[in-house]
Amino acid sequence: MYLRDIAWDGFRNLETRALTLDERFNVFSGDNGQGKTNLLEAVYWLATLRPMRAARLQEFVRFGGTRCGVEAGIEAEGLVHRLEVRVEAGERVCKRERKPCKPSEYFGVLAVVLFTPDDVGLVRASPAERRRFLDRAIFTGRPAHLADVQAYRRALEARNEALRTSHDPILLDTFEETLARHALRLNEARALYVERLRPFFLDAFAGIAGPGLEPALVYRPSLVAGSVEEMAASLTADREKDRQRGFTARGPHADDLGLALVGRSARLYASQGQARALVLALKIAEIRLLEALFGLTPVLLLDDVSSELDAQRNARLFELLHGFRGQVLITTTDASHVRTPDLAHVFRVEAGRVTPLAESANP
Ligand SMILES: Nc1ncnc2c1ncn2[C@@H]1O[C@H](COP(=O)(O)OP(=O)(O)OP(=O)(O)O)[C@@H](O)[C@H]1O
Ligand SMILES: [Mg+2]
Repeated sequence: MYLRDIAWDGFRNLETRALTLDERFNVFSGDNGQGKTNLLEAVYWLATLRPMRAARLQEFVRFGGTRCGVEAGIEAEGLVHRLEVRVEAGERVCKRERKPCKPSEYFGVLAVVLFTPDDVGLVRASPAERRRFLDRAIFTGRPAHLADVQAYRRALEARNEALRTSHDPILLDTFEETLARHALRLNEARALYVERLRPFFLDAFAGIAGPGLEPALVYRPSLVAGSVEEMAASLTADREKDRQRGFTARGPHADDLGLALVGRSARLYASQGQARALVLALKIAEIRLLEALFGLTPVLLLDDVSSELDAQRNARLFELLHGFRGQVLITTTDASHVRTPDLAHVFRVEAGRVTPLAESANP
């Protein structure tokens, strides 16, 4: 699967235009603040209907404008699919094959894996960031996971609200049973994902950092239960404490993805370079797992990551990209960092204007 062509209008600072992309490597080069990340954000939004960094839809719309859109042709197994997402009158509209559709009908055409400089902080970040990483990674292979996350969140809010407003134990039992069902579903999906990811992660990490660091990757649920009943019983046991706190303390919204080196928390003890190697290994594992599980080769979006990696890890990254069969969209402020192995399409990004340079062969 790859993006054959893409067009945008009114999206952030990007000048309206259409581009034809290379099936493999596309490099977007430009100075700071020119629109490189905006371009990847457009692709990310198109693929996931989720913001990469925006908090509100309106942020996508060019200053002073009222609407924006991104549209692309995606070639997969000889067919070209069309996806389009827009902001119209403040609302998001998505279309597949030019017809408005529900998100559940939209997903399944385009999968992307994103790697940004922000990800480099994942090891040291809060558990919330690592949960977000996990849920996004699961979502890439199984878009319905998003609905599970949202359903859990609604059930959590409902129980929190009930804790504040009701002392009726039967009513609270009902809320807790619903919450337990959604919580167990999330726990199981995340735990299974981490189990599947682990061998790929260990392999990738050894490839980047060498042997001896004994990396570990575990899912750390705050509530462990083998059934909905057990999960509900744990929530009920927490009820009075939660009521005093004013919110539900334990559950998938409080879980973590644990990373360790030689038995010690990477969050607390890993060096900067080790933390980067861990994140790079997680990302590589994510891609390998998608290929192994679904035969799915996602489009890789790499936002200026070379600037965050030292020369050795950067070289390793490009070595790995060389072996990656899929399409890569990579941004950089310095084209000399980018060692694309094949013929690449190179684009210049300047004040929101994206222009293709002549196809250029890289050494
Ligand atoms: N809604 C918007 N309308 C117009 N311009 C916007 C909008 N949102 C962001 N911008 C502008 O886009 C520019 C930033 O673009 P972007 O983040 O893509 O830069 P970049 O090329 O990735 O830079 P860097 O190399 O520093 O990461 C800023 O000048 C910002 O003001
Ligand atoms: Mg940027």
